[in-house]
Order: sequence, then structure tokens, then C-alpha cells
Amino acid sequence: MNNRIDWVRRNCRLLASISEEFRVEQPFAGMTIGTGIHLEPKTVALILTLQDGGARLVSTGNLNTTQPAAMDYLGARGVTVIGQPTRDAAEHGTYLEKVIDEKPDIILDNGGDLFDRFLKKPYGNLKGGTEETTSGRMRLEPLRDELVMPILVINDSPIKQFAENEHAVGQSVLESYMRITNRVTNGQRVTVFGYGACGRGVARNFRAANAKVSVVEADPVKRLQAHLDGYDTPSRERAIASADLIVTVTGNGRVIGEADLPLLRDGAILANAGHFPVEIDAAAIAGSNAVTERVAYEDGVETLRLEDGRAIHLISEGHMFNLAGPRPLGNSIESMDLGFALQARCLEAVARGKVGAESCVVPVPRFIDEMVASSYLDLNYRAAA
Ligand SMILES: NC(=O)c1ccc[n+]([C@@H]2O[C@H](COP(=O)([O-])OP(=O)(O)OC[C@H]3O[C@@H](n4cnc5c(N)ncnc54)[C@H](O)[C@@H]3O)[C@@H](O)[C@H]2O)c1
Repeated sequence: MNNRIDWVRRNCRLLASISEEFRVEQPFAGMTIGTGIHLEPKTVALILTLQDGGARLVSTGNLNTTQPAAMDYLGARGVTVIGQPTRDAAEHGTYLEKVIDEKPDIILDNGGDLFDRFLKKPYGNLKGGTEETTSGRMRLEPLRDELVMPILVINDSPIKQFAENEHAVGQSVLESYMRITNRVTNGQRVTVFGYGACGRGVARNFRAANAKVSVVEADPVKRLQAHLDGYDTPSRERAIASADLIVTVTGNGRVIGEADLPLLRDGAILANAGHFPVEIDAAAIAGSNAVTERVAYEDGVETLRLEDGRAIHLISEGHMFNLAGPRPLGNSIESMDLGFALQARCLEAVARGKVGAESCVVPVPRFIDEMVASSYLDLNYRAAA
């Protein structure tokens, strides 16, 4: 029987068509590409497409999202896979260092981890690479003067913004919430922290699932947008105090912390969909003196009993729960196929020298957005014809 990775690869049609071209053109011949991105079925499809382009691949995952089946699949196909699933940031750091020790010519980063390690142990042949996320861009922007090389930020492509962040993250967060908790959404009060591209999708999907959604957004302009989109935008305190479910998706640290415990309703559920497990300060909350009992359930939910009798439920210890939770599916295959087609084309542009050092931490070039959008539409209409 074929496994889920084969199903994903079969449905990553953009990557399949790029692979076909790469097998002939070999844009990465003689190069090593180091990757530090979740190891799961869709990234497997991307990594194997890069391998089809002639690259030697050295790959590790992100903290707490590595799937053993993805590691085995890649290992069996000649990719050098480093590390293992871990929740330990220090251990994960050693895996990132091992990727850098291989002196990749190009880096595919997700969260800025590999470029950060490169700056601590620089070497001569790095041509540049890509960064997948908002969080990584925020980390790399201040380092522009040290990283004098093309680094294309996939997240800042309009395609990534609407196809993945806005449409797919919201769907997958709702799907993960229902799968992990098996709880109702109808009539529930959901507070979404952050009304960026991801937050807009999360808010919209919970509203479509008949929840009463409030938004807390630091930027008054986006708060106005949320208001005009029909969401309640109460004060932070009121939004926390009224919530049955709080979802953080800001890219920022300590959005919800121990100091918020007195505000939370009995039975409130806390879930993070932002990239790093820092938005909900899970360690401080779980370690609070107010917590008298902790009960962990196998589906990734932990119940914290407080001294005044209230219960608070934490999903996946504050890790990005649509990918780090149990039996994760992540975002839809097609949304990731689009984003990863951008990745493959951007890495190709770096390998071929089509983008220079002036493109350090900049969005995907327009010609690549147009190429990927046209290919997706062509494949879609060809399939429908
Ligand atoms: N779970 C997934 O599958 C997935 C996919 C893509 C991106 N992400 C991650 O989701 C996060 C958000 O991404 P985005 O593209 O929406 O970013 P964004 O920058 O477009 O939006 C983030 C918003 O959060 C707001 N914000 C920051 N701190 C806040 C706070 N303390 N309280 C309230 N609002 C606050 C900002 O003003 C901004 O409007 C990032 O960490 C990103 O890496 C997750």
C-alpha cells in the first residue's frame, strides 16, 4: 500500500512539473542545499524536487514538528537527514549546527535558524537562499549588513499571503482544533490574537463554524480592519476574560502569560498557531504557583487545575498546534504546493545568480510570482478540461 507521502507528492502538481524540468536542466548540479524546515510530507515533496535539480540535500526539521515517516522516506531516497523529533531547543540547535557543518551552497530556512547558525560559524561558499516565514524575516532583517547575499522571503509573496496564510492556515487551525479537542465551535466565544494574514483566516474560519469571534490586534489600523470585517475588538482584558478558546497567531512572544491566569474563564482553552512556541508562555503558566494539578491527555491537551478550582486547557504545550499536535496534517496540499513552487523557483534563481546581494531579505521577485500563478492556473484548467 502506498503511504500518505505518496498521496501528497501525487497532488503537489506544481512541484511535479518543476521536477520534470529540473531533471533535464539540473540548476543545482554540484551544489549542496541545507534545509531547516518541518520534515513532513509536503516538505518531502519540495526536498525531492530540489534533489531532482541535481542538488545534494542535507536536511533537518524544525523544533517539535519532525515526522519520523518523512525522515525515513527522505533517507531512503539519498537525502542526508540530520536529527530526530525533539522538543528540546538545545538538542535541536545541535542538528542545525550539523547542517551548517556541511557548508551548504544554498540554505532553505524556516524561522531564521540556519542563517543564524551560519553567522556564528561563517564559511565562504554560501550563495544565499530563502526564508519561509514572517518570524524568520523579523529575525533576519536586522542582520542584513552581516548577511550580504540574496535571501528571498517566501512569506512576503502575495501568493503565500493569500493562498497559505489567509486561506489555508485558518482552515487547518479549525480542523486541528476540532480533531484534537473534539469540542463544539458553535456559539463558543473565540478570541484571536493577531489580525495579520493568518489571524484573518483563523477568525474567518471560526466565524464560519458559528463561533462568536473577537480579535485582539496591537496595530490600530488592523484593529479597525477587524472591526469593519464585523468582529468584536474589545480590550485585551475583556477579550481574554470572555474567551472559551484563545488562539494566538502573532509572531510575537509572551502574548498570553502567567499574569493572565486570573482573567481566564473556567474551562478556557489556549492554543498557539504562530511559528515559535513563545506566544503562549506555557512553561510559566504550567509552572505557576496557582496550578495545583496537571493532567495530560494523549491527544495533546493538558488540563491545569488552579487553586481556586478553575481548569485551563493548553493544546500541544503552546507549540504551533496545526503542525506540532498529534496526527498533524498541516495546511492543505495545494496551498503548500504553491508556496513550495515559489521556494523551488527562488532557490533556482539564487543558484543561477539571477538575484544578487541587493536582494537580501526581500520578497519573492515579481517574475517568480507570475510564473507560479500562471502554472497553477494552467494545471488547474488543464485538469478540468
Ligand atoms: N500555523 C501555521 O501553519 C502558520 C503558517 C504560516 C505562518 N505562521 C506563523 O503565524 C504567525 C503570524 O503570521 P502572519 O503572516 O499572520 O503575520 P503578520 O505579521 O501578518 O500578522 C501578525 C499580527 O499580529 C499582531 N500582533 C503582534 N503582537 C501582538 C500582540 N501581542 N497582541 C495582538 N496582536 C499582535 C501584529 O500587529 C500583526 O498584525 C507567524 O509566527 C508565522 O510564522 C503559522
